[in-house]
Amino acid sequence: MNASILLGYTEAIRRRLHGFGCWSQPAYGFPGTPPSAIVYAVPEFLWGMSVTIGPAMPPLRLGVNVDHVATIRNVRGGQYPDPVRAAKLAIAAGADSITAHLREDRRHIRDDDIARLKAEISKPINFEMAATDEMVAIALKTGPHAACLVPERREERTTEGGLDVAGQHNMLASVVARLIDAGIRVSLFIAAEPRQIESAARVRAPVIEIHTGPWCDALGEGRRDAAEAEWRRIRDGATLARGLGLEVHAGHGLNYASAETIAALPEIVELNIGHFLVGEAIFEGLADVVKVMRAAMDRGRAKARQA
Ligand code: PXP
Repeated sequence: MNASILLGYTEAIRRRLHGFGCWSQPAYGFPGTPPSAIVYAVPEFLWGMSVTIGPAMPPLRLGVNVDHVATIRNVRGGQYPDPVRAAKLAIAAGADSITAHLREDRRHIRDDDIARLKAEISKPINFEMAATDEMVAIALKTGPHAACLVPERREERTTEGGLDVAGQHNMLASVVARLIDAGIRVSLFIAAEPRQIESAARVRAPVIEIHTGPWCDALGEGRRDAAEAEWRRIRDGATLARGLGLEVHAGHGLNYASAETIAALPEIVELNIGHFLVGEAIFEGLADVVKVMRAAMDRGRAKARQA
């Protein structure tokens, strides 16, 4: 069978299985594998049967962050609108996973949202959390598929910078180990800086999430040179991280256009997107915006595949 037919066939199986609620990870783990010869596999139970080697773009997953549905709810108190309902809708519209950030001050997602997400949704949960004893205990009790460690300060409006992995090596290494021992896939939310990426590998995190906020801000404010410099940082950071054997995700501030652009980087296998989707849902409805986002990401991947 021709390699490209085989790849398309493999991807079709993966998507079909995703539709049945299966979670597949790109079978990276071959440090230094260049993007032109990426190896990836379809779901775990087909491992061994369907490993594909060749010029491939691995699938790009969409994680929908439902924090700001909870933000709107909390403005009035009570139960409405319900982030778990939003999560189910997003999944039905094509989300591969649901992200929720339980902050220390509980300003949006609350403890019972996390418990209900775990009990009620059919796709993996990515639990965003500060590396504190309280949050580690909640993660261990809940058992999400993944946990993304983020820096957190009460006074910030959103997660404003990446983790300083280099400066907190011992503390983070211990938190990463505890979560991994519990079977949770750990990622570190970091700027695309070589020092932080290398430190993430040193603390044995299997995944990083590159902070795309500075790039998206520069794009939004029309600062072209800064946007270009940030883009190069993201691109080079993703290449470095893959070379170190890390799985690479990205997120923060993404919209349709920036998601389509970043989808061209084959090293990146997951985008986590929240604020734009919830904002746009006011005008277009959540299901439609998730579908349009999915299409933008697929378009970006397809263009890069043809290039
Ligand atoms: N990834 C991480 C680690 C985040 O902290 C956030 C913001 O909660 C996001 C992704 C999503 O960012 P946005 O809401 O701007 O799409």
